[in-house]
Parts: sequence; structure tokens; C-alpha cells
Amino acid sequence: MSERGVDDRAVLRGFEPSDIPTGVTHYRGKVREVLTRGDEMVIVATDRVSAFDRVLGVVPRKGEVLNRISEFWFRATADVCANHYRRVLTPRSMLVTPCRVYPVEVVVRGYLTGSAWREYAAGRPVSGVTVPPGMRENQEFSGAIITPSTKENDGDHDRPISCADIVATGIVPADDWAAIERSALALFARGQEIARANGLILVDTKYEFGHDGERIVVVDEMHTPDSSRFWYASTYAERFAAGERPDELDKEYLRRTLMECGYTGDGEPPEIPMTVVSELSAKYVAAFETITREKLSDSGLDAEAEKKRILSYVNEGS
Ligand SMILES: Nc1ncnc2c1ncn2[C@@H]1O[C@H](COP(=O)(O)OP(=O)(O)OP(=O)(O)O)[C@@H](O)[C@H]1O
Ligand SMILES: [Mg+2]
Repeated sequence: MSERGVDDRAVLRGFEPSDIPTGVTHYRGKVREVLTRGDEMVIVATDRVSAFDRVLGVVPRKGEVLNRISEFWFRATADVCANHYRRVLTPRSMLVTPCRVYPVEVVVRGYLTGSAWREYAAGRPVSGVTVPPGMRENQEFSGAIITPSTKENDGDHDRPISCADIVATGIVPADDWAAIERSALALFARGQEIARANGLILVDTKYEFGHDGERIVVVDEMHTPDSSRFWYASTYAERFAAGERPDELDKEYLRRTLMECGYTGDGEPPEIPMTVVSELSAKYVAAFETITREKLSDSGLDAEAEKKRILSYVNEGS
């Protein structure tokens, strides 16, 4: 993605190995970075943006939006399931409890859409779930379903797996998996309830669960535009009846813009104009405000200062 015009003070691109103090473990995902020292873990949502499984550039305010949306949901669901959230450290970072994470993406779906629709349309079950015949694209299921994937290492695409196979192959012990299924459905129900009150449909999402030594804990991010799909509730029924695509709270915007330029994930991505970057940034801020019903004020902290604060925290704690 072209980044001409992006103000470097406004974006946090990530940490370099040379930034990391000794004694601190550094993990770099596509979008987030994790710094761990002892029983302290900091998850940093950078401003990197990915589509088609690739990092394509940076979008101002994206990291802060994602961090603050996760914070909102961890607080709003803490009574439903224990989570790893301790507190927000800086606008883009969160202090969490480190856990032993099960390598499963626990996908919960309320509607038949996206990859589930594509599997169904091709006559295949979705992660072992047989979807009833005669359903239409974007139709609501009679009850939410769980369609897990295994979490694969760098570069490999996640692989769909049935709930039965997760237990049969020993990826998760049976009693823990039963608890995870119950928690995932309960979290999703709470998410849908709150989203609905704010005019949105929580369509589907992905959770990760871990063990903190005592109990099952929901970790990673929660109900963010990067891990979830949201539609606007007010137009859903009418558009579904007319066979039109639901109005979505955009994550698809970048993907669609790239596809309009003829890019579908292979080769060098095209240059994205600064207007698109600005548009994306505004969309992330709007997403925060719609989901949480709060205003996102400017943190006033430049990215370098924020990195310093995070590093000094993991270095000495405070
Ligand atoms: N409480 C926690 N304890 C231990 N690991 C955690 C915790 N919360 C999240 N994680 C891990 O932190 C990482 C966050 O990184 P991130 O999601 O950016 O990258 P990724 O999942 O490896 O790859 P991708 O870019 O495809 O999402 C994940 O591997 C996630 O499992
Ligand atoms: Mg991830």
C-alpha cells in the first residue's frame, strides 16, 4: 500500500528486534505484537492493516480503535466468561494475563455468509456442521453454530476442523472443549444483544481460549472488526428479502477496493491512494463509535512516545 502522505508520528508500525529489552519475549503477528516478561503480557495493536492474509500498509488510528473495542467487550462480557484483560496500558496496548492458548480459532456464526456460505453452496459441511437444506446466503441460523479452524503457524492457512475432531485428536481435552463451546455461545449471545442495542448485528466472530492454570479464559481480541463481521440491523430484513447484500460495518472496504483495482491477493499489491487510507481510518473510528456508543477522543500521544512507554513498562513495570 502506498503510504505517501501518512504522518509517521501518527502511526505505530511495530517494534524492531533491536527495540526489545533483554528478558522480554517478542512475538510479531500480522497485525499485533506481543511482549512478555514473566507473568506480564502486553498486546500491542499496531496500525498495520491486512487483507488477503497479507500486511498491506498502515492506517492511522486503527490500532487504537481495535484495542479500545476489545477493551469494551472484555469489560462487557467479564461476567459471562473469565478473560485475560487486566487494563489498557496505552491507546494501542493492553496488559493481559498470559495463558496457554489452545491452537483453535473458535468461530461462531449466527448467519450463513462468507466462507460458510461458499462451503454450503458447494455442497460441503462447514467444519463438520451439516447446515439444513434450502438456506439462502446471509440467512440467520435457527441458533448460532460453532465452526472451528486449527490455528496454523506462519503463512499456513487455518484448516477447518469439526468439534468432534478437536477432542478426538487431543488438541483440547473433552471437558475443556465442552466449557469452551458453552462460553463461546454465551459470549456470542451477549455480543449480539449489545450489538443489537446499538443498531448492529454481530454476524460472526472468532474467539481464542486458553488456560491460566486454574480455569478456561477467553484471550486475544474480542468482537473487533478484524475478528468479526457486523451488519446494520435496520436494513437487514429488507435487503435480505430483496436478495441484496446486507449493509456491513466495513472491514470489507479495503478488500473490495483492492479487488476493484484487479488485485485478489497474488503478486505485488497496487498502490492505494491516500484518500482510501483516510477513508479507512475514518471508518475504523466510526466503527468504534457505533459499537461502543462512545466518542473516541484524540489520545495526543505520538507513536514513538507510545512505543517508549510500552517498552519502559515491560522493562521495569510500573
Ligand atoms: N492471554 C494470552 N496469552 C498468550 N497468548 C496470547 C494471549 N492473547 C493472545 N495471545 C496470542 O497473541 C497472538 C496475537 O497475535 P496476532 O493475532 O496478531 O497474530 P497471529 O494470530 O499469530 O496471526 P494473525 O496475524 O493471522 O492473526 C496470537 O498468537 C494469540 O494466540
Ligand atoms: Mg490472530
